[in-house]
Amino acid sequence: MKLVKRLIAAFEERTGLISALKNVALHPVPPDTGWSYVFGSAALLALIIQVVTGTALAMGYVSAAGDAYQALQFITNDAFMGSFLRGLHFFGASAMVLLVGAHMTQVFLMGCYKYPRELNWITGVILLVLVVALGFTGQLLRWDQTAVWAVVVAAQQAGRIPLIGSALARFILGGKTLGAQTLSRFFAFHVFFIPALLFAFVGLHLLLVLHDGISEPPVPGERVDPKTYRERYRKLLEERGVPFWPDAAWRDVVFGFAVVVAIAALALIVGPPRLGAPPNPSLLAKDPAPDWYLLWYYAALALVPNELSSAFIVLAPLLGILIVLLVPPIWNTGERHPRNRPWAVAATIMVWLTVGALWIEGIRAPWSPRFEAKPLPSSVVGASNGPIFRGAALFHDKGCEFCHEISGYGGQRGPDLTTVGDRLTPNEITIRILNGGYNMPSFAGILKPEELDDIVAFLESRTAHPSATSFGSARLTKAH
Ligand code: HEC
Repeated sequence: MKLVKRLIAAFEERTGLISALKNVALHPVPPDTGWSYVFGSAALLALIIQVVTGTALAMGYVSAAGDAYQALQFITNDAFMGSFLRGLHFFGASAMVLLVGAHMTQVFLMGCYKYPRELNWITGVILLVLVVALGFTGQLLRWDQTAVWAVVVAAQQAGRIPLIGSALARFILGGKTLGAQTLSRFFAFHVFFIPALLFAFVGLHLLLVLHDGISEPPVPGERVDPKTYRERYRKLLEERGVPFWPDAAWRDVVFGFAVVVAIAALALIVGPPRLGAPPNPSLLAKDPAPDWYLLWYYAALALVPNELSSAFIVLAPLLGILIVLLVPPIWNTGERHPRNRPWAVAATIMVWLTVGALWIEGIRAPWSPRFEAKPLPSSVVGASNGPIFRGAALFHDKGCEFCHEISGYGGQRGPDLTTVGDRLTPNEITIRILNGGYNMPSFAGILKPEELDDIVAFLESRTAHPSATSFGSARLTKAH
């Protein structure tokens, strides 16, 4: 016992770490900070969950294009608690995005970003960007159809930026086309580069929190004036300050615990995102379906007119980030209480309503391919062998069904093909498939001739009258 005490004392004498930690834990903070102050620490907790689960996942992961999909299947289906781990990592990421959003909203509404905490806001915005970048790069590591697609589109969009576009696209893909090197690159970004930046900025962010102190709850009518603020804050702490631990931090602990329980429960009950089909460059579709926290942005992309969209893709996020970065530091004095800042409240509500509306639109997403479309049931196909049968299978396997609905199955990006046999001749169908069209990729060179024939036979059998179907099938079977 004595030895332990002496060791601790020796450690403390050489590092000063113990007293430093004690000082942090016990430093005085303003009284009555309340429950709205818990989001920042919870976001930090979610980050810690991400680091732990991410490290564990990395041990089973293979960042090689040929093996990544199998590795994920293995982690999900066979590895010890692998599915739970993936669930934790996915919902941890979701929690982080939500908590960072809640934290920013609270800080903005209560004017906590005002003097002297402008730099906290700026480092916070950088952290938000890094968190979203982590989500985006992480999604590709699933290396399934959807994930790969999201990156192809991102690279295409980046390629449209004037001057630096093609260099940027090449940087994202790690070459001219998507391939093995893309996955390695995203892996390196996801586990080394972005986390390193994130840790640095989290450190800076926390350092600033300690340096300037937690903002006191706003009081209507009390204005922030850089000349008097520090003095007033010092007085407040001296007269009414409470130790951070436990008087203020107990709420962080309770809320953090609830967040962890919620993440674990979702990981157990809902589980990780299902893996889609393995990536297949011959399965072309035009829009990605990103994870939910980016869905609203892709919805915005899909809704702006085509001519505008390249400008929009590049300029809108840049402008958005710039506004978020600059507006608060510019209005860094004056009233803090939301009751006396109607514009700040209105702007916050507007932003959230817009994101919410786009998000709902993104979920409905009639314009985005439905990657999870199941093969058509035999009751719809109406044949159990022959070209119609094979064509129906190809219709699913080649990704047509992502965009086209038949008898209520499939996506709605392209026209419904339930009765396409009445509308188009085999020749017209063939031309459309080979050439593609507005928002339909060209399949020339992707389908083998006999595959094309089967698909056309299948589509030609899609008519309003079932009898015609069997007639068509008989005729086509004979023709082959
Ligand atoms: C990325 C989504 C997408 C995929 C994948 C896709 N299509 Fe299309 N398809 C469309 C769109 C959009 C149109 C409408 C094109 C136009 O108006 O020029 C269309 C049009 C068509 C038409 C003409 C329909 C009509 O009523 O005029 C046919 C036939 C067709 N597609 C068949 C296929 C087949 C077969 C496949 C698979 C080999 C396929 N499509 C894959 C989006 C897609």
